[in-house]
Amino acid sequence: MSCRGALLVTGGAGFIGSNFIRHYLSEHQESEVVNLDKLTYAGNLSNLADLESNPRYRFVRGDIADRGLVESLLAELSPRAIVNFAAESHVDRSILDASPFVLTNVVGAQVLLDCARNHWRGCFDRHRFVQVSTDEVYGDLGETGRFTEDSPLEPNSPYSASKAAADMLCRAYWRTHGVPTIVTRCTNNYGPYQFPEKLIPLMVLKASRGEKLPVYGDGLNVRDWIHVLDHCRAIETVLLRGKVGEIYNIGASCEKRNIDIVKSILRQLERSDELIEYVRDRAGHDRRYALDSSKIHKELGWAPQISFGEGIRQTVEWYLAHPEWTSACLTGEYRAYYELNYRHSVAPKPGGARAVCPDRSHQGVHADGEMAT
Ligand code: NAD
Ligand code: TYD
Repeated sequence: MSCRGALLVTGGAGFIGSNFIRHYLSEHQESEVVNLDKLTYAGNLSNLADLESNPRYRFVRGDIADRGLVESLLAELSPRAIVNFAAESHVDRSILDASPFVLTNVVGAQVLLDCARNHWRGCFDRHRFVQVSTDEVYGDLGETGRFTEDSPLEPNSPYSASKAAADMLCRAYWRTHGVPTIVTRCTNNYGPYQFPEKLIPLMVLKASRGEKLPVYGDGLNVRDWIHVLDHCRAIETVLLRGKVGEIYNIGASCEKRNIDIVKSILRQLERSDELIEYVRDRAGHDRRYALDSSKIHKELGWAPQISFGEGIRQTVEWYLAHPEWTSACLTGEYRAYYELNYRHSVAPKPGGARAVCPDRSHQGVHADGEMAT
């Protein structure tokens, strides 16, 4: 591949990035994609094994926070656009240790922005920097309403705080330096190649093995779900037609309670609900997320195409058909993380005091009920 003018995708060996690269290369037959990925525990080259011999695809192993590497890559590639997926992405891990989240999600984003600024100086109008962010930056929603792009940022986990910081850096680099940034904020994704520490693949894995399914708190937290391919098509739309300096919410208006997702997986696998085990709640657990995505719909003409019923059916089938993919994720590191994260997991006593919080009154309270100091 010639690479000059290619699309630089970071974090492309992860769940959404790998789906995005596959989609983009198949939709844009003239385009070339370079994938810069550090290959953390969540990065998996087998997610893109089918592209290994594609002359329009190239993989570079490296850290987005490594300024020397990013500078030399930009000098070599002169990419017309950067789409930044690279991140530490799991809330539970950010509760155990926030440091890698700040290093990658904040410092890494700042290094990418700075290098793009230097490299694209004088020709910003021909380039784009798309920052792939999350609805979690808006924080916890009450029983009603939806977040719009104008909602205040009130992140509650170290993960969402680090993503909000990167969003703010994108805004600042646009307003101060003219770097052509666009921020997308998407809801919870599901689909193939998602690391089995997140709700849906974890529950499919557990259910298929007849193991207990750990549901946090009362299971009534609500997430707004979108199929990963709909998210990829939205990012493609923003990349091609989005307005610089703008933020676009991306969602499929598909709110589900966690317990209902878990039960639907059990039904599809013909397993008993008795496998459900209510465990200690996540610290600072946001009760509900929901997005208003009318802006991207009205201004850019994007709309989701995959219904949740069909999407979840295909997703569960995909995991069942790829046991070797899931098994390869279950390394010693995975087992150590699982032990640590679920170490306090005990079935709650009926009526016992737990930080299961139907409203915002839980703010400042840890999941074990202690007051934050
Ligand atoms: P993921 O954890 O599956 O993949 C992250 C990828 O980034 C991995 O391949 C990892 O190796 C790579 N990476 C991590 N640190 C890096 C570094 N310092 N340098 C280079 N590469 C690095 O995550 P995902 O679910 O695919 O999420 C991708 C992006 O989308 C993230 O920015 C996330 O915040 C955002 N997002 C995710 C969701 C979701 O539901 N999964 C929803 C909205 C937004
Ligand atoms: P997750 O997939 O980690 O995504 P996020 O925290 O970014 O929304 O979790 C989705 C929901 O599922 C969230 O409310 C936490 C809950 N959950 C469980 O109940 N049990 C689990 O073992 C996990 C991983 C998540």
